Parts: sequence; C-alpha cells; structure tokens
Amino acid sequence: MPGSAERRQWLGHNVLGSLTLFSCTSSAEAPRLADARYQKIIVRMHAAAMWAPRLRTGSTQMSPFVVREVEVNDRLNWEPLWQAYQSPSRKIPDEVTNVTWQRFFDELEPVHALVAAEGEALIGFVHYLFHRSTAQLAPICYLQDMYVEDGSRRRGVARSLIHNVCLRAKTLGASRVYWNTGKNNAAARALYGQVATLTGFVQYRIDL
Ligand SMILES: CC(C)(COP(=O)(O)OP(=O)(O)OC[C@H]1O[C@@H](n2cnc3c(N)ncnc32)[C@H](O)[C@@H]1OP(=O)(O)O)[C@@H](O)C(=O)NCCC(=O)NCCS
Repeated sequence: MPGSAERRQWLGHNVLGSLTLFSCTSSAEAPRLADARYQKIIVRMHAAAMWAPRLRTGSTQMSPFVVREVEVNDRLNWEPLWQAYQSPSRKIPDEVTNVTWQRFFDELEPVHALVAAEGEALIGFVHYLFHRSTAQLAPICYLQDMYVEDGSRRRGVARSLIHNVCLRAKTLGASRVYWNTGKNNAAARALYGQVATLTGFVQYRIDL
C-alpha cells in the first residue's frame, strides 16, 4: 500500500490533458498542495457559500436545490447517480467506487465531491481534484465527473455545480478549473460554451 504522499502524486500524474478551461482569478499565495488536510479544512469553512436555489417559473414550480459538500450518509443516494453516469460499456468496478467514495472523506486526499440536494434526494454531483503544475506554483483543479439526473435537467443544476467548484477551487488558491468532455456531448457543450473557454488542446492517451 503506497504512502499518502505517493498516493497524492499518483493522483496528480493521472490527470492528463485538457480540452476546456474555466479560469478563476489566481491567488497570489498558493497553499501547499501537499497539505491536503489544509484543503479539506478550508473547504469545510466555506460550505456556507454553497447554496444555489433556482425556481423554474411557470405553472409547475419546483423546490429549490442546494449544492453542498457530500456527506458520509449520502452514499445510498449518490450511488444510483454514479451508476447512471457511467456508460454501460465502461462500468467502474465496485472496488474502485468504494475507494473513490472513501477518498472524498480522507483529509489526505485532494479528491472532493459536491452534491445537489433537493430535500432528502440527491439530483446531481460533481467530483473534482487538485494537482500540481510545472508552469506555476498554484494548484490546478480538474473537474473529473459531473452528472444531473434526467428529471432535474435544465434547471441550472450543472451550472451551479460548476460555479461551486470554482468558488472552492479559488478559496484553495487554485488558478484554474478545467475539464474534458466528449466532442459529441451536445448538452454538456451547450452549457460549457456559456461558462468556460474552449481551448485548442486535444487529448491523447496511452492506456497502460
Ligand atoms: C450535461 C449535464 C450535466 C447538464 O446538466 P443540467 O443541470 O441540465 O444543465 P443546466 O441546467 O445547468 O444547463 C444550463 C444551460 O446549458 C444549456 N443546456 C444544458 N443542457 C442542454 C441541452 N440538453 N440542450 C441544449 N442546451 C442545454 C442551456 O443553455 C441551459 O440553460 P437553459 O436551460 O436556461 O436554456 C446533464 O445533461 C448530464 O448530467 N448529462 C449526462 C452526464 C454528462 O454528460 N456529464 C458531463 C460530462 S463532461
């Protein structure tokens, strides 16, 4: 079992390539990425900033949703969304899901999750992590996964999830939030084109 420093390095080295960037204002003083405990503590202090209700106007009003940090007892509600997010041809093994879930709550891991909650139900999630850069001191935030359940789409949930990742990344001194998406993911790209800048980078990959 690798030590926590090695595990963090592994995480950083596995974030390859970028297609879409969302720039947040950079902070003059970057926190030590190595001190993941610092990150998670600071993030919790800013949990109050994560409320993002939006009501759909018209005859069928929907209740506001809340974007908040994932909690340990969310697992049962998070798991169906996580499964629905995965493509049938590329199912993530249970063992990986279990470790990923544990990492959200491990203060030594730079891996985070936010959820969109509506009452007791979860209607969406976003997972993000921090890694180093050779070009700057500040950490960079990679938004790895985002999903909104079918019945809750077009209510601004994903927009709010991205916004809240940016708030937190900025709080932690990150200079940028970025993510990849499928070239043909029209829904995602319709949103991303409004909130982020499409870069000229193209992702290449070698599976090992
Ligand atoms: C992509 C996804 C996360 C968007 O979630 P969402 O909560 O519906 O998005 P939002 O409501 O925040 O969308 C904001 C805006 O983006 C645009 N948009 C979003 N979905 C769209 C669609 N299907 N068609 C056209 N425009 C769309 C609209 O301009 C929308 O604003 P509007 O509803 O006021 O017109 C969601 O469709 C999803 O979970 N898809 C499956 C998983 C996925 O593809 N994840 C992203 C991987 S990179």
